[in-house]
Amino acid sequence: MNILLIGSGGREHALAWKLAQSRLLAADGDRFYATPGNPGIAEHAECEALDVADHAAVVQFCADNTIGLVVVGPEAPLVDGLGDALRAAGVAVFGPDKAPAQLEGSKGFTKDLCERAGIPTAGYVRTTSLAQATEALDRFAAPYVLKADGLAAGKGVVIAETRAEAEAALADMFGGQFGDAGAEVVIEEFMHGEEASFFALTDGTAILPIGTAQDHKRVGEGDTGPNTGGMGAYSPAPVLTEELQAQAMREIIEPTVATLRAEGMPYSGVLYAGLMLTDEGPKLVEYNARFGDPECQVLMMRLEEDLGELMLACAEGRLGEYSEAKLSAETALTVVMAAKGYPGTPEKGGAIDLGGAEADGAKVFHAGTALREGQLVANGGRVLNVTAMGSSVSEAQLGAYAAVDAISFPSGFCRRDIGWREVEREAS
Ligand code: AMP
Ligand code: GLY
Repeated sequence: MNILLIGSGGREHALAWKLAQSRLLAADGDRFYATPGNPGIAEHAECEALDVADHAAVVQFCADNTIGLVVVGPEAPLVDGLGDALRAAGVAVFGPDKAPAQLEGSKGFTKDLCERAGIPTAGYVRTTSLAQATEALDRFAAPYVLKADGLAAGKGVVIAETRAEAEAALADMFGGQFGDAGAEVVIEEFMHGEEASFFALTDGTAILPIGTAQDHKRVGEGDTGPNTGGMGAYSPAPVLTEELQAQAMREIIEPTVATLRAEGMPYSGVLYAGLMLTDEGPKLVEYNARFGDPECQVLMMRLEEDLGELMLACAEGRLGEYSEAKLSAETALTVVMAAKGYPGTPEKGGAIDLGGAEADGAKVFHAGTALREGQLVANGGRVLNVTAMGSSVSEAQLGAYAAVDAISFPSGFCRRDIGWREVEREAS
């Protein structure tokens, strides 16, 4: 069949690489399109310039090109209702409709759902004015967790150490720092513990776990400095033991899927649960309605299934045909190479030579790259995701950094300690 993939990052390159191996694309004449794509994705798919905010144009493209499956990589088109428009036109789509995508699109929606379904998460208050929010701080203790309700590209969360900092942050949020996303602010109880991510596919009824991961959000080594979209990740996350995964499925994922279905907004696609492993068990930090970036890259390296068929089964309500999604027992680890300046203003246009980075089985996924007159150059904040497999986190880390060292990217940088928590545990 013909497939259309939406997105342009390292996550979408990993999805494109895996989808290109699918039986769905095996027949002569099967076409694989991506929009907008990037030079890495272009190795697998034909890149098209489509305005994904123009739902009618995407629907028309699908009709003109007999697209059998649309795979939506990022959250914004889902929260914007692209899934609804495609489904209404009879096109199979991997990714939830607008209403269930509120799991990512509205922090308040998710907290209320947790309350209705008895899902363990931090206590919270939803506030819609500065006065109300400031007063609500009385009910919490430092550190204060403040979240803009809507999509804010991962920047909408402030952890304030003091009451004065919290009040200043609330003033910024209600003052329009995050635009409409900050018209409502959720204040939460602070949870202590280690964070890990759990991924599950669902068609609204059946649920299929598809792996665990941990990422490094801070730009600096030792997890210091400003927050980023993620500087590296590894999968599996050994802290999420089989027992904790079973508990998270039972107490968090299953009631979420069942409640959304019961309330008439079944969720179809991937559920990405950010979990805090507290002394009282796993608690939900947040949901995303898409794969993580760069978590997706390490999951795709380990996935021993036909991704296209799994995604089509989600889209067609047939996920119950699967009893498990097989994943390699090995660890995959990815190091993000970013352009100097990231997460502020990244330097654009720096030359990249991938050299022999993939010689020993490593895989380099493109995130923010472009081709200028045949030269690969940086074209974004996070530029490359250098990914390797190994029998342990330490071994995968060695492989990934050997590949990093084979790359010439003078205007780039990376953290040298991705996976440090597990590397320390493995050494002790
Ligand atoms: P979120 O976008 O909701 O995942 O929040 C971003 C980050 O803020 C999370 O990855 C956590 O590190 C931190 N965080 C969010 N909520 C809490 C909470 N209630 N307690 C402690 N840390 C939190
Ligand atoms: N790496 C974190 C995210 O994709 O949200």
